Order: sequence, then C-alpha cells, then structure tokens
Amino acid sequence: MEFETLCLHADNNIKDEWGTLTTPICQSATFVHKGVDVPSDYSYSRLSNPTRRHVERLVAALEGGADAYAFSSGMTAITVSMMLLKPGDHVIANDDLYGGALRLFRNVNALNGLEFDFLDTSDIEAVKAKIRPNTRLIYIETPSNPLMQVTDIRKAAEVAHANNAWLFVDNTFLTPYFQKPLELGADIVIHSGTKYLGGHNDTLAGFVVASTEELAKKVLYYSKTIGGQLAPFDSFLIERGIKTLPIRMDRINENAGKIAAYLKNEKKVRKVYYVGLPEAKGYDIIKEQSKGFGGMISIEVESKELAEKILSDVKIFQYAESLGGVDSLITYPMLQTHADVPLEERNRRGINDRFLRISVGIENAKDLIEDLKQAING
Ligand SMILES: Cc1ncc(COP(=O)(O)O)c(C=O)c1O
Repeated sequence: MEFETLCLHADNNIKDEWGTLTTPICQSATFVHKGVDVPSDYSYSRLSNPTRRHVERLVAALEGGADAYAFSSGMTAITVSMMLLKPGDHVIANDDLYGGALRLFRNVNALNGLEFDFLDTSDIEAVKAKIRPNTRLIYIETPSNPLMQVTDIRKAAEVAHANNAWLFVDNTFLTPYFQKPLELGADIVIHSGTKYLGGHNDTLAGFVVASTEELAKKVLYYSKTIGGQLAPFDSFLIERGIKTLPIRMDRINENAGKIAAYLKNEKKVRKVYYVGLPEAKGYDIIKEQSKGFGGMISIEVESKELAEKILSDVKIFQYAESLGGVDSLITYPMLQTHADVPLEERNRRGINDRFLRISVGIENAKDLIEDLKQAING
C-alpha cells in the first residue's frame, strides 16, 4: 500500500459484531480474563488497550518500524526512550532541540548519571570528534527546533553504529510522510503526536517507534513500568488526524514555500530560517533524505519592537505555542518553547528578542502573507 492508503488502512483489523468502520473508543481500564492463565491480548490498559494499539500499529506502519508505543505527550515519549540508557552512558545531542528535551537532558537525565555533549550535529565531523568509548546514543531533530539545522541521518546512523551506539531521531517536524529516519538507519523515531500527526491542536500525544522487535520489547517494558500511555479517546483523535496527514502536509509544505519566499524579500526581516530555500544550509541533504520541507519557518526581524508588534498585530496567525496543526501559529521561542535555555546560550545561537517561529497551517497562502505584511508594515 502507498502511504496515503496506509494512513487509512494500515491496521484494518477491527472485526466486531457491528462491523465498526471507525475505531471504537475502548474506555476500559481492565479486561475480563478468559480463564485461569489463558493468554489474551488485553488485560490492563497500562499494558495495552485496543484503541491505543490500533494507533500504535498505524504509526509503526507509517514509519516502517517493528512496533510503536503511544504516550500522553511527546515529552513522555522522550522520557521513556531515554530509559534505554543507564548511568555512565554518554549521549551526543543536537544543541538545537525543543527546549523541553534540552531541559529533560540537562536537568533530569544528566543529574541521574547520563553524560551529554551538545553540539550542532549537522557537522558530522564534529559529532565523530565527540565520540567516547561510553557513547551509547546520538539524539537529533532534523530539521531542528527552532534553528532548522539539518543533520544527515544516514551519516549520523553510520557514526552511531560504528561505535556501538544508537541513533534516535525526533521526526515531529517532517512526519513519515516526508521523512523516514528508520529507512535511513535510525534505531528509534520519536514524535510529539500533538503536532502534525494529530494535526488539529486538540490533544497531546507522543510516540516511540522502534526499528526492531528487540528494541520494541525494551520500550514496552519501560512503558508498562513507568506509565504515561495515551488515553483511548486521545488515541482515537490521533488516528482520526492521521487519516488526513498527507493532504495536510502537502498544503502546509506548499504554503510554507510561498511564505518563506515572501519573507526573504521583506526588508524588515533580517534572516529567514527555512530548509526549503535553496540557499539554506543543509538544503542538499534535506532534498536527499526528505520528500518535503515541512511547515516550520523561523525569522529574525529588525528589532524587538517589531517582533512584539507582529505578535500583537497578526489576525489570522495566532500568537500561541505549539506547531503542526491546521491553524497557522506564531511564537516567541525566547519566552515560550526555549525559555529555559540559559540566556547567554540563547543569544549566542540567535534565539534572541528579535526571533520568531512560525508554524504554517492550511489556510490560503495569500491570506497568510497579507496577514504577515500588515503586521510587519501596518
Ligand atoms: C520537536 C518536538 N519534540 C517534542 C516535543 C514535546 O512534545 P509534547 O509537547 O507533545 O510533549 C515538542 C513540543 O513542542 C517538539 O516541538
């Protein structure tokens, strides 16, 4: 089956007495045993739940993984996947990651005995130079959040595997519709399903997709031990969102290209970070490893005052955190997604008081451009 068809039919296995087409929301915490010691797929919903299992199998099929597990948020998915490491293990991570992931790594995992090096992983030689005998993981987002650094997934996987380490890729920004990290050698794919997979800003969700049964078993062990699984109703919402993933991503991709082209020529915009611009660093790599550029654009405008004016004057774009939904959003990473990154580091990397991040939605591109124009120049 092609990807668009998989989004609807990857897990067509519901066979119930009513002939249900839409996945039923199985709102049951526990399941009646069939007999003493008789095996059954479901016993308790922290281990497995029919509605959640359905969306897990769907996401596993879309990413080409052995299996997937769904969690109550992207952060839970990252937390559970980091349990695969043990104290004393060394991790090489992008220095440009979602702020919550950086906070987890630095303020929780590092205090519990993991060792970290943070760097621009688009520089593969720099990654190689940081490898230590105890390196067990390379962790990346590509494109990264919010500076849109592009890391060569295939090369990062080669470096990891040559050193007995794993490669984890947070594929939230591009989704498997555009980019399939497991096919390029990654061991685990992580999603904030809150974003494009759900697509409607109406629920939080997270996924861990494992490349092999062996890794999947480990993830399931930590999942059932820690908890934090996706609830049945939220599983239903994410599955419903995924049905339209390809058409949403196509429109978002097209809109973002038009908006980035406008922003590039807007005088008061000093810098445009968009991986679909041919002059963008990493453009050749992303063209090779992804079928699209996605809908995330960051900009640096000429002054703090202008950044604040844009946030208060946009009418169609909404000034709100998050990304990946049908509605276009604009956010101020300095105060929101990256507020916990130390000031000096933020400034050094350019996430300053002139820096805004845009998540392009599915509205008409002309309206979106007009909205930005009036907010910038009005
Ligand atoms: C790339 C990325 N990964 C993970 C997360 C965390 O996901 P959640 O907010 O669903 O916990 C986010 C949140 O913005 C994100 O942008």
